[in-house]
Amino acid sequence: MLRFVVTLFAVITSSTCQKYGCLEGDTHKLKPSREPNMHECTLYSKSSCCYVDFTEQLAHSPVIKVNNSYWNRCGQLSKSCEDFTKKIECFYRCSPHAAHWIHPNDTAAIRSVPLCQSFCDDWYEACKDDSICVHNWLTDWEWDESGENHCKNKCIPYSEVRKPDQLKQKKMALRVLFFFLNIWV
Ligand SMILES: *[C@@H]1O[C@H](CO)[C@@H](O)[C@H](O)[C@H]1NC(C)=O
Ligand SMILES: *[C@@H]1O[C@H](CO)[C@@H](O)[C@H](O)[C@H]1NC(C)=O
Repeated sequence: MLRFVVTLFAVITSSTCQKYGCLEGDTHKLKPSREPNMHECTLYSKSSCCYVDFTEQLAHSPVIKVNNSYWNRCGQLSKSCEDFTKKIECFYRCSPHAAHWIHPNDTAAIRSVPLCQSFCDDWYEACKDDSICVHNWLTDWEWDESGENHCKNKCIPYSEVRKPDQLKQKKMALRVLFFFLNIWV
């Protein structure tokens, strides 16, 4: 019995350790640590994979670009969509839990992050008047030699992509979420 408990403890400890690493993106720390003076993404200030300096880029409006990624390739985001996009950017750059859903082929990316339906619906509501040119952040951008992103495809309003029936509409919202979360779909 004791042996069982010790083994179980070891399993729990090792899986807990793993969970607290960071992704390997260009702005990520090796390990999360406290960042008491964050300008944005304060949800993660107790344990953060991004530095305070990174969050300065998000602490105003409009946000034109974050490092080399431009947010306005299909026009400036609406305020509601920009606010949502900031939440996602904070999760990707700063969350100590993001590495749970690390992409098997790209240690700087995440995939298949579980989402609440309500979060998904709110996100769609926030961005429905904005336009997009990518479904998949990893494969649908064209990156130039200075590392900046450009549209390969035409910009389409979210509302035009949406299909009338509920199920398809939800699927569309999910694809849009996947696009923001750098997920391979
Ligand atoms: C990203 O942007 C921040 C703020 O401008 C800068 O301090 C940092 O060096 C940049 N990181 C990379 C990898 O470009
Ligand atoms: C990872 O790469 C392999 C080999 O190229 C491919 O078969 C697989 O579908 C990729 N996985 C994902 C999640 O993209």
